Amino acid sequence: MVELLPSILSADFAHLADQVAAATRGGAAAIHVDVMDGHFVPNITLGPPVVKSLRRFTDLPLDCHLMIENANDYIPAFAEAGANWVSVHYEACTHLHRSLELIASHGMEPAVVINPATRVELIQEILPMVHHVLIMSVNPGFGGQEFIPFSLKKIRRLAELRRELGLKFKIEVDGGVAHDTVAQIVQAGAELLVAGNAVFGAGAPERDARALLDAARMAEKQASA
Ligand code: DX5
Ligand code: ZN
Repeated sequence: MVELLPSILSADFAHLADQVAAATRGGAAAIHVDVMDGHFVPNITLGPPVVKSLRRFTDLPLDCHLMIENANDYIPAFAEAGANWVSVHYEACTHLHRSLELIASHGMEPAVVINPATRVELIQEILPMVHHVLIMSVNPGFGGQEFIPFSLKKIRRLAELRRELGLKFKIEVDGGVAHDTVAQIVQAGAELLVAGNAVFGAGAPERDARALLDAARMAEKQASA
């Protein structure tokens, strides 16, 4: 079943616990945590201390999307802080296989992320190792950007590749997931939907998470009918 992962990037950080609680009541399956270092992406966000605080507050999986260089240096700290899923960028990891092994060796679920300009075929060899693949449907760094339409083709290609290889990883999509794009994204084959602005942007995260999830589930039903 398709699931919603609210991205706290667009939340009010001064009321983070309340915002996460509201998104959880709205049906969140996990909390998406965007970690940015100001090098790999032109923005800075948060790190293990915030993950640690969230861990005390929620039982939902914490899905940490690392948009950072030298990810290996920080993986132990994210494990210590209580992260559950950790995704690293294909474009930021010189030794991607090693990074994924390191994540798994710390008891977390490893995942790989690809930017819009990166072809799905480039990660084929490591697909058996991952819990999910995150397809970026905007250039990472900021919330509230527009969905890049060719991402749909990449989602379909990845779903096809998964079938060909007989694998079970999930397909996650991040960037511009909103009311007007969600149906096509689900129909293309995405199962984990990250949404920041569409959940937190209007100041009603419970209502807006629920509405987006309902729209996603409706599209899923239509696709399987
Ligand atoms: C962008 C982040 C996203 C971001 C998505 O670099 O990885 O998780 O929060 O934001 P929206 O849903 O607003 O496009
Ligand atoms: Zn993200």
